[in-house]
Amino acid sequence: MALDPLLSPDDAQRLHESLLAIDYTTDAVLERIGEEGQAGLHRNISLPADLALTGGTSTMDALAAAIRLWLLQRPAPRSAIEGALPVDALLGAGILQAENDQGEGEQLVAGIDIRPYGSPDDGASGWLVSDLTPGFDHRPVTIGPDYVLGASPASTTLAQVTMRQPIGRALDLGTGCGIQSLHLARHATKVVATDLNPRALQLARLTMQLNGLDVDLREGSLYEPVTSEAFDLIVTNPPYVMSPPSPERLVYREGSFEGDGLVRAVISGARDHLTPGGTLQVLGNWAILRDQPWQGRLDAWAAPDCDFWVIERERLSTFEYIEMWLTDAGLHQSPQWEQKYREWVDYFDRLGIIGVGMGWLTLTRSERDNPERRYEEWPWAVEQPVGPAIGRTQQDLTTARLPRPDLLASTFTLADHIVEESTGAPGAAGPEHIVIRQNSGLRRAIDAGTALAAVLGACDGDLTLGAIINAVSQLLEVDAEDLTLELEPRLREAIRDGFLNRIDS
Ligand SMILES: C[S@@+](CC[C@H](N)C(=O)[O-])C[C@H]1O[C@@H](n2cnc3c(N)ncnc32)[C@H](O)[C@@H]1O
Repeated sequence: MALDPLLSPDDAQRLHESLLAIDYTTDAVLERIGEEGQAGLHRNISLPADLALTGGTSTMDALAAAIRLWLLQRPAPRSAIEGALPVDALLGAGILQAENDQGEGEQLVAGIDIRPYGSPDDGASGWLVSDLTPGFDHRPVTIGPDYVLGASPASTTLAQVTMRQPIGRALDLGTGCGIQSLHLARHATKVVATDLNPRALQLARLTMQLNGLDVDLREGSLYEPVTSEAFDLIVTNPPYVMSPPSPERLVYREGSFEGDGLVRAVISGARDHLTPGGTLQVLGNWAILRDQPWQGRLDAWAAPDCDFWVIERERLSTFEYIEMWLTDAGLHQSPQWEQKYREWVDYFDRLGIIGVGMGWLTLTRSERDNPERRYEEWPWAVEQPVGPAIGRTQQDLTTARLPRPDLLASTFTLADHIVEESTGAPGAAGPEHIVIRQNSGLRRAIDAGTALAAVLGACDGDLTLGAIINAVSQLLEVDAEDLTLELEPRLREAIRDGFLNRIDS
């Protein structure tokens, strides 16, 4: 059931203006808390930032008070923000709460987090409204089932892998505090954001108001709120944690599905909500089952006319996984730890789960006769944001699948950030290995022989691929037809993986 907005449009507008007026922005905040303060906050410790802010004194201006309240989760005197922020409205909404007056004037604390957000990747910036970070300063905090997560490492990763071409309609499925919508609104003309949790929508509404965004917020599970609608791009990091059924389920991280059923439902339900050529991008987890290759299991989730590309970034044992999420729920060193751990082990055992894959799933309604299916384990470092590399994949795939005459008649240039590395024994006549490496995107590398390296290196937009192979065959004194047959599959791979740009003829 929809909850009332936290603030009226007028109060939200006043808050927006006053946050700007006191300079509660990413740059100003980072400057005020300094490098040590920032490092402390990354460790969930507030004291270094507090010392930088106030030098240990109790006098503070409105910006310092806002930082104390929301970033440091420490009390601040009402007098410091009176007149600068709409205090009564914030108190009325529970965004701030009054503490007992202990003779120092009225002290306020934050009930809901408001913090500046800025992404160096695509320039998205503004403020995010969410619940307070639990476990800050090692304070034991139990979070409620309807807890609304703020910007997390998973949110940042999803934002970085998201393709950012200009599009028409985008869906932010499971919006939480609204962070993905902030990014989507920069390149989509219409953004719909959904969530099962009414509190998430209540907080996301204020995020949108503070950022002046007209995002269509809707309540409901998965694709229910968008039954007959299609999108050019759907992004989601759904509550993918696979945990035993429990009445204390945390809606921000656990669905009510068994095992990885929720991620499966997101993938298998997407086809009918994508426009032709549209893409779903998911940050998720999936089960590794005893005696069943994960690739085949996930392949069955994708509709037959869709390309499906899964990059497994990390694989955890069931024990590592359980420990990670028990700790995330604040149960580290709690008396329930072992009992919950055992229940979780039994649950995985019953479902035959022997490990958990974590990574990025991209499904595109390509409508190809022979859709591309790609399942790779890629734990290596990538150059974030990888969104641009993922965004060019459809075009690269189409080029990589050109009939041979068209491929050979095409002209290419090397993509940006490609380098050649040669290694071998010092003093040797030639290199032992020639590696062609991307210094951007997924940072893939090709272990190329002399011929492939020569062909790739000669792609400068002048000669066709066929003419380059001919020229290289003469240099190497080999048969041109044989060399073409030898290099063709590797060149198609290089094109698919974004090493070459095709010049439109
Ligand atoms: C991990 S949070 C991600 C929030 C946000 N998208 C981000 O990037 O940080 C998952 C979100 O999905 C929502 N959610 C949980 N179950 C859902 C469902 N069945 N349908 C839609 N949203 C759901 C949760 O309330 C939560 O806001």
